[in-house]
Amino acid sequence: MKTKLLTEQDIPAAAAILRDGGLLGIPTETVYGLGANGLDPEAVRHIFEAKGRPQDNPLILHIPEASWLERCCHDIPDAAYVLAEKFWPGPLTMILPRREVVPDAVTCGLDTVGMRCPNHPVTLEIIRAAGIPVAAPSGNRSGRPSPTCAAHMLEDMDGRIDAIVDGGPCGVGVESTIIDLTSPVPRLLRPGGLPLEELREALGEVAVDKAVLAPLSAGEKPKAPGMKYRHYAPKAPVTVVAGEGGETARYIRQQTGEHTGVICFDEYADQFPNGVIRTIGSSHDISEQARRVFDALRAFDGTDVTAIFAQCPGDAGLGLAVANRLKKAAGFQIVDVEEAEP
Ligand code: TXA
Ligand code: MG
Repeated sequence: MKTKLLTEQDIPAAAAILRDGGLLGIPTETVYGLGANGLDPEAVRHIFEAKGRPQDNPLILHIPEASWLERCCHDIPDAAYVLAEKFWPGPLTMILPRREVVPDAVTCGLDTVGMRCPNHPVTLEIIRAAGIPVAAPSGNRSGRPSPTCAAHMLEDMDGRIDAIVDGGPCGVGVESTIIDLTSPVPRLLRPGGLPLEELREALGEVAVDKAVLAPLSAGEKPKAPGMKYRHYAPKAPVTVVAGEGGETARYIRQQTGEHTGVICFDEYADQFPNGVIRTIGSSHDISEQARRVFDALRAFDGTDVTAIFAQCPGDAGLGLAVANRLKKAAGFQIVDVEEAEP
């Protein structure tokens, strides 16, 4: 199959691909998605094939506005409308009870479904023109870093899908925040582009699922099935180095040889004369770090780097999501310099 590159001029063609059961790369504010008709089980199955995605990892549905929620969900709590009003379109996915019309192929048999309204004008128009909720996981091959521009998605999906709509680089750069509104206390299942602090401000108490902060032990099941997989991983093993910036830079410098990759904040870029360096922005600019973290994780593939060390932001604001992606890429291989050195 030849994968076409479409632009924002091609909205009718893009919508037709979705309506005809095809696979379409779509830009969103978080990461590029691999979209298909979310009401067509056959089309949805093709998403799993193209990504090489495990069969027990459900997809989320993308809609252009909150009024579409009723089509796919029932017993929608007031909290969902409060959040939609405040944060949609935007980087927030809500887990809600699903209606029968949502196929098992989307939810992997769960009685809930993830609903998201992405903040990208082209994709919103495509979904409206198609007239159907669009199932879309991130547009990477399974296990790879999520794509934050059309070129990254083409790298992973060329020849496997009908087309990719180039909507420019993603403005947020990490995936949506996922909140489960079916548990007694709303629960954060995945940190993402909308900070936990903002959800707490809107809702009061929000619990944090265990899988967000630490690896699960064997046999433990996270509420978001995708959180159990090693993810976002470059080919070389990653170690996250946590702690104060100067200290982490010093630790990494001691480990760095010719074949070492370093992911660091801009201020420290000149401290690793031997390594292969990718910066992710100033240590003070977490939005920039979010935009660049997946690009950095991709950058070492195809080089002769055999080990990667990464500086890591703290958990405040978007830092929780950036740190989570780095730690997952590292399979939770973390050195804490404050603990390592007396
Ligand atoms: O920003 C995003 O959310 C991007 C863009 C394309 O919208 N999409 C995305 O999809 O990140 P994906 O499939 O890569 O991640 C969705 C996560 C997975 O970890 C999955 O297990 C979880 O959502 N999930 C989906 N449905 C769920 C459900 N009913 N209950 C709990 N977790 C669910
Ligand atoms: Mg993904």
